[in-house]
Amino acid sequence: MSNSPLTASELEVLSTKAIAAKATAYCPYSKFRVGACILTQKGECITGANVENVSYPVGTCAERVAFGTAIVAGYKEFKAIAVATDIKPGASPCGMCRQFMREFTTPSFPVYMYDGDGNHTMMTMGELLPNSFGPNDLPK
Ligand code: THU
Repeated sequence: MSNSPLTASELEVLSTKAIAAKATAYCPYSKFRVGACILTQKGECITGANVENVSYPVGTCAERVAFGTAIVAGYKEFKAIAVATDIKPGASPCGMCRQFMREFTTPSFPVYMYDGDGNHTMMTMGELLPNSFGPNDLPK
């Protein structure tokens, strides 16, 4: 399945919710807030934020919280994700999150990255994780 571009109103909703989701981050150690919002193919929005832990490696990124939440809620088809941070330029997903998102997306899936001023850049999953190992690559 390929991804059609988002409309201006879809992007407006997606970015507003990703930016608002920064306020839900639990990040007492890094103080680095990350919000995420996924848009499903049917137009629903699922948000997430980073959730840290006193045992630092146990913490989870916003992207994985959002995708895990979407999957357990039963959503299967996704149109885009927005990730929002307070830095400039906006952060791009870590390697672990790229692989995690790859499970549920196609190479054309757009990842919108918002900075602290609300400006964004966009890269596709295929650009962020080229030559990836995906769900169809395990022998049957
Ligand atoms: N973090 C995310 O949630 N997503 C990213 O794309 C980059 C990093 C979180 C992990 C940790 O809670 C904090 O940001 C600092 O690394």
